[in-house]
Amino acid sequence: MENGINAAAVPTENETMSRRGILSAGGAALSAAGALALAGAAAPAMAQAARGDAANDVNLLNAARALEFEGIAAYQIALDSGLLPPNAVGFATLYQSHHEQHNEELEKAIKRLGGEAVGPKTSAQYVQQLEADKLKTFEDILRLALRLERGAASAYLGLIEPLKNTDLHLLVARLAADEAAHAATFMIDLASPISAKTPLF
Ligand SMILES: [Fe+2]
Repeated sequence: MENGINAAAVPTENETMSRRGILSAGGAALSAAGALALAGAAAPAMAQAARGDAANDVNLLNAARALEFEGIAAYQIALDSGLLPPNAVGFATLYQSHHEQHNEELEKAIKRLGGEAVGPKTSAQYVQQLEADKLKTFEDILRLALRLERGAASAYLGLIEPLKNTDLHLLVARLAADEAAHAATFMIDLASPISAKTPLF
């Protein structure tokens, strides 16, 4: 692999001659004033592209906020259901607070990009969206929690590549790790089989 890269990077003698030819021809054709004009024309385009990247990053972070709000609502539905044993109440409250902290971090990042953070839907919308009426047992709630937490971990991992601002990569990687930790506890509770093959998420 390394040899392949090196081989590709080192031009042959003929290629070097050919590149020199192109450079000298380009230099003759393009005056210093022309080069400055080109650079001047490129600057607004680059600024516009940067604004486009920031707007796209804001949209991606807002999509993450939507998932966090859904998670917060799901834990509230679980807490209000009367189906949780006492030790699970503690976990649901703790994990819900983690999701609230995630949303605070996402909101700060969105503001740094000059964007506007989306808010939550209504409780009634989440009840419908999460089909809360179908939650009849503690196990139903554990399965919903595992589905949402696993989905959140995968969603954050999926954000790393499309986010253009590399400062955000560490943030979403850390949030993915939190979601994976949440999912793991529900996998244990449900005795869900853990894949022998990695990566798990
Ligand atoms: Fe979570």
